[in-house]
Amino acid sequence: MTESDLGFTHRFVRGQGPATLLLLHGTGANENDLLPLGRALLPEAHLLSPRGKVLEYGMPRFFRRLAEGVFDVEDLVARTHELADFVDRATKEYDLDPSRIVAVGYSNGANIAGSLLLLHPGVITRAVLLRAMLPFEPDQPPDLTGTRVLISGGRVDPITPAESPKRLEELLRASGADVELQWQPAGHELSQDDVEHALQWLAESD
Ligand code: MLT
Repeated sequence: MTESDLGFTHRFVRGQGPATLLLLHGTGANENDLLPLGRALLPEAHLLSPRGKVLEYGMPRFFRRLAEGVFDVEDLVARTHELADFVDRATKEYDLDPSRIVAVGYSNGANIAGSLLLLHPGVITRAVLLRAMLPFEPDQPPDLTGTRVLISGGRVDPITPAESPKRLEELLRASGADVELQWQPAGHELSQDDVEHALQWLAESD
C-alpha cells in the first residue's frame, strides 16, 4: 500500500527493527523500487521509502537539476529540509528509533542522502550511498562525528565523474564521519558487487 501523508507519498513496511532503512530511489523510479534491495540488505529493518516530488519529463526525482550533474542547489536545499521533516514525522508516526535511521540511496537518491548528511547531521547515523556525487560544497563542514558512510562508485560510471565521490568522501571525513569509498567494476547501474559489499559493510558497521 502506498501512503500519501506525512508530506511525501511513501511506503512503510514494518520489520522487527530496531533499524529503519530510509530508501531513496534514483531518477525515474518510485517508492516501490528499492524495497527488495532494502529487504535484502537488512532483512529485519523497517523500510521507509518516499517518492521524490520533482518531476523531470514525468520521472520522479528528489530535487531539480539544471543539466545532468548540475544541480539546482536552492531547490536541493529546500527539498532536503522537507525530507528531514518527513523523516522526523515518520519516526513519530511509526514509532521508530530516531537513532537507528540508515539511508540507502541510489544515484539521485544518494545525492539527496548526501545533502541530508551535510544539512541535518544526526538525522541519519549510517548511510549507503550508491553512485553518489558531491551534492554541493558547504560553507562550513558539519559535525558528523559518529556517522558512518559507505560510498559505492562505479569505475566506469559515465554519469558520475570519479572526482565527485572522492570529494564527497574527503568532505565527510573532514566533518568527522567514518567513511569508506569502494569502487565496483560497473557503470552507473548497480551490480551484485554493490549489494554484497553493502551487506558486509552494514553487518560490520552496526
Ligand atoms: C542527479 O541528478 O542526482 C544525478 O545526475 C544522478 C541522476 O539522477 O541521474
